[in-house]
Amino acid sequence: MIDRKQLQKQMEQVYSEMPPGNIPWNLPEPPELLVKAVEAGKIKPCKAVDLGCGAGNYAVWLAGQGFDVTGMDISKHAVRLAVQLAKEKGVSCRFVVADLLGDMREYYECFDFAYDWELLHHISPEDRPAYIQNVCNILRRNGIYFSVCFSVKDPDFGGEGKYRKTPLGTILYFSSEEELSELLEPFFSILELSTLEIKGKYGPHAANVAWLERK
Ligand SMILES: C[S@@+](CC[C@H](N)C(=O)[O-])C[C@H]1O[C@@H](n2cnc3c(N)ncnc32)[C@H](O)[C@@H]1O
Repeated sequence: MIDRKQLQKQMEQVYSEMPPGNIPWNLPEPPELLVKAVEAGKIKPCKAVDLGCGAGNYAVWLAGQGFDVTGMDISKHAVRLAVQLAKEKGVSCRFVVADLLGDMREYYECFDFAYDWELLHHISPEDRPAYIQNVCNILRRNGIYFSVCFSVKDPDFGGEGKYRKTPLGTILYFSSEEELSELLEPFFSILELSTLEIKGKYGPHAANVAWLERK
């Protein structure tokens, strides 16, 4: 089980104490998968939400592509960095501090596109139904959800098995495609679900990549 209060504390510590360039997941360039989807018109400018936006790199990039973006994160220090980044880049982008497992009623049916990049592995299987219900509720009908999280097929990051400990001390849950299908199917039509290699700061990761449509 991942302790949410402990995770929140660890995240505040990371974002307040580490220079952004040293944060292990903080890559200034947007992920190729997102860039390609936008370039191919798979996802067109619309109202988008970046769930677990961290320091805001991808939200700011997407806003620069003409999307109306809101970034959400549980860490107020992350949101502070994201606001600063948007200012530096001169793009208009909204950022809010929010626990995505909490009450999201004020955002119901607000978005056409939601994505979480490397967030879901911070959420325990026990908490995932509440999170996925929230993602479903904040999307409009037929809205698109793009989700990327670490795969149990990853051979060496944090050891082996489902729960793994990172050098920062955070506990992550590595998923299989099968369990993600089971989790997502009640809420979404699965457009694509595969295991792909994604870029990491210190080497590639095996990740579950899902494209979904709200039912
Ligand atoms: C590995 S980081 C990824 C950040 C960003 N997506 C990126 O790729 O740079 C995971 C992020 O999820 C946030 N997070 C974890 N649990 C959350 C929750 N319950 N609600 C909102 N944000 C959460 C963390 O604070 C952290 O910024």
